Amino acid sequence: MIPSTHRQVRLAARPIGYPRESDFRLVESSVPEPGAGEFLVRAVYLSIDPYMRGRMSDARSYVPPVAIGDVMEGGVVGEVVRSNRPGFSVGDVVEGRLGWQEYAVSTGKGVRKIDPTVTPMSTALGVLGMPGLTAYFGLLEVGQPKAGETVVVSAASGAVGGLVGQIAKLRACRAVGLAGSDAKVDYLVRELGYDAGINYRATADLDAALQAACPAGIDVYFDNVGGRITEAVSRHVNLFARFAVCGLMSQYNLTEPELAPRNERFVLVNRVRIQGFIVVDFSARYKEGLAQLTEWVRQGKLKYREDVVDGLERAPGALIGLLQGRNFGKAVVRVGPEPAGSRAPAPASRGGTEG
Ligand SMILES: NC(=O)c1ccc[n+]([C@@H]2O[C@H](COP(=O)([O-])OP(=O)(O)OC[C@H]3O[C@@H](n4cnc5c(N)ncnc54)[C@H](OP(=O)(O)O)[C@@H]3O)[C@@H](O)[C@H]2O)c1
Repeated sequence: MIPSTHRQVRLAARPIGYPRESDFRLVESSVPEPGAGEFLVRAVYLSIDPYMRGRMSDARSYVPPVAIGDVMEGGVVGEVVRSNRPGFSVGDVVEGRLGWQEYAVSTGKGVRKIDPTVTPMSTALGVLGMPGLTAYFGLLEVGQPKAGETVVVSAASGAVGGLVGQIAKLRACRAVGLAGSDAKVDYLVRELGYDAGINYRATADLDAALQAACPAGIDVYFDNVGGRITEAVSRHVNLFARFAVCGLMSQYNLTEPELAPRNERFVLVNRVRIQGFIVVDFSARYKEGLAQLTEWVRQGKLKYREDVVDGLERAPGALIGLLQGRNFGKAVVRVGPEPAGSRAPAPASRGGTEG
């Protein structure tokens, strides 16, 4: 039964600093009717990702922001419940940017079909979706790790970072992760196979901790956070080190840009390559990346953890929590029940919110 109305989360105000619940508005709207060539999707899981903070702001970025009053942008995996589009049938499970809402109409643009009997459908938003592809191409193509090298990862227990260290290990590197709690560091080392972990929040001397964890220096830095962690890492690099700049968690909510030391000297002396990337740079190769990630997951070589909260109304709180480091693993919101018969075997590691 498709209801006549559904819930949406719309952007109410542009945040100053960290977003607040009042920057979002939960509204009731009519469920749209799919037109010719369209289909209607019932959302099951909504992805919560750091880029959403950027979409709430009107600062210049690589894509335009969400307009005030519009439905928040977000990746969704859900079930086709009505279809006027050949190739998409009722019962198909699909993934696409369908927004923070319980139902969405699509033409199929940017939407892919998922087989939920092979892997749990939520993985299409994490290890077998955008974060997985970010870890895969960011580390292997931008970071270019070689066997025996030391790879350092920040936000190392998160959706992207948790995978980067494991892929580094699959490439016979030493993997060192920085994370924001003892529980996260314990998870990196015991569950994911990182060689060492540093709780950057509890470590008074980050230089001494990096020195101890990276006795042979740092060859690849997968940067998810920027700021003082990146500065500390830069003091321990080897000749020809590579920085794969993936994200800037420490900077997204600043109201004033942070002053940083000039970095020309460490780049010049060590011939360091610093390269930013956005996962879409590799869109022509997604198929290849997803095939490899799927194989690793099925072989048990790639573990992942999900932090699931229930109910669309909790999506704003989940994003606010993610930006403050309260998520432990890939943050997702369960918007509605999974379709019958969609359950794949349980993954090796599935977590829950910390604390
Ligand atoms: N370039 C791309 O195409 C692309 C694609 C996807 C994601 N990303 C970026 O990748 C990074 C990770 O994304 P994700 O989805 O995997 O998120 P995530 O790591 O699951 O969650 C974000 C984590 O960032 C850490 N964090 C929060 N505030 C911080 C601060 N002030 N300093 C240091 N760390 C802080 C927290 O972990 P701790 O408790 O460990 O601090 C938090 O759990 C983000 O920067 C995101 O923007 C980039």
